[in-house]
This record gives sequence, structure tokens and C-alpha cells, in this order.
Amino acid sequence: MAKIPQTMAIIMDGNGRWAKARNLPRTMGHKKGADRVRDVALEANRKGVQKLILYAFSTENWKRPEDEVSYLCKLPGMFFNKFIQELMDNNIRVTFAGELEKFPESTQEVIMKAINQTSTNTGMELCLAINYGGQREIQLGIQKYAAQVAAGLRKNDLSIDEFSRYLFVPESIDLMIRTSGETRISNFLLWQLAYAEMIFTPTAWPDFDEAALDECLQEYEHRHRRYGGLDDED
Ligand code: FPP
Repeated sequence: MAKIPQTMAIIMDGNGRWAKARNLPRTMGHKKGADRVRDVALEANRKGVQKLILYAFSTENWKRPEDEVSYLCKLPGMFFNKFIQELMDNNIRVTFAGELEKFPESTQEVIMKAINQTSTNTGMELCLAINYGGQREIQLGIQKYAAQVAAGLRKNDLSIDEFSRYLFVPESIDLMIRTSGETRISNFLLWQLAYAEMIFTPTAWPDFDEAALDECLQEYEHRHRRYGGLDDED
């Protein structure tokens, strides 16, 4: 049987360069990118991935020009209008990771609506990392824990597993993919990527289709994970 990552995370990079290469505005790269979210989510679900986390908006993305930020804020609404029925039909459950409250109310509403509508689905969890930053996630987790210790609700005895539960994403990641050639993790899931397999592909996100995902899954199947120890093949 194929070895499938239970938890998979993707840095969807290269929308801007994809658009520029076609003399299109950057926003058209993001639009095409949102369609790829549909393709890749359905394929990951078909293959048996349990949780797919997509880096849709980082805490640093607010620095982009106003019109691009405004377009990125509208994308979740456009995406769910177009694809919510397909997500339902495929039993996919939507969640998010990040500080949603910093988005315009209309963006928060469409995301919460999709979360509520899909909440009883039992297939793959599609988690949108939005206004997400790995350092910020750890900072918030520490603050929450410290507040509980100060209030006498907890002893100062935190284990690594327990700390994970103070984060937006408690699971560790099996496979991380970054598209478009950059070989960085850009503040994504810093804690959860501790033992992740990583694949950096030159394909731009708007060109990353089902076949491209299948290739990554095949490569993952051949990776030899040791978690710092040794196994029978060593
Ligand atoms: C990085 O490419 C991509 C983003 C900052 C946005 C990613 C968002 C999507 C793919 C769509 C999200 C969909 C939903 C459902 C919310 P870039 O703009 O940095 O590309 P570049 O490095 O080529 O400039």
C-alpha cells in the first residue's frame, strides 16, 4: 500500500511570477492559484491525506501594495462561492490557522460560514493558514501558557507534546511542499516542521496540478524517515 503523508503543508509560491511571465496583473496569478487550491485539495483528499494546510496569507503579506492585499482578502469569498459545493460533495472539512480577526469583517464571515457549513464532514481537513506566522504562533502559545501558570491553573511542567496543543496547528507535519523554486520556509509552521520531509519544486503554484502533486507523493513514498534514530535499513 502507498505510504501517504497524514499531514501535508504547502507554501503556494510563484503566483506573481506566473502572472508576470504572461503579462497579466499579479492578481490573475492569485486567481489561478485559488483554482489550484481546489484541484490539489480534491486530489489530496482522494489520496487519503488527513490534513492539508495551505499558506494562503502570511503575517508579512500586509506589506504588499494595498490593491493586492485587498484582492487577497476577497479571494476566500471567491473561492468558497465557486467551490463550497464540491468541498461538501467530497466530505472535506474547512478550518483555519492564524489571526482571522485582523481581516475585514466580510472576509471573516465567508471563512466562518465555510467552516460552519463543512464542520460535520469527516473527510480531509483543509486548513487555510491566513494571517499566519510561525513565530507569532509560538509567541501566542507561550503567552497563553504563561497566563495559565500565573493564574495557578497549571504547574510549570510543560512537555513538548502538550505545548503543541497551545498552537494553531497541533499536529506535526509529514510532508512540506514549496512551489516555485525558493528553498526557504518563510515563517511557516516552524514548530510543526521539525521532522517533515521537504520537497521544493520549480513549478509555479498556478501550474501545480494533480499530476504535480502525485509526483511529490511518489517522491515522499521513497523517503526514508528516521526521526534522528536508526532503523532496519541503517
Ligand atoms: C505567493 O505567491 C502566494 C500568495 C501570497 C497568496 C497565495 C494564495 C493563493 C494561492 C490563493 C488562496 C486561496 C484561498 C482559497 C484563500 P507570490 O505572490 O509571492 O508569488 P511571487 O513570489 O511569484 O511574487
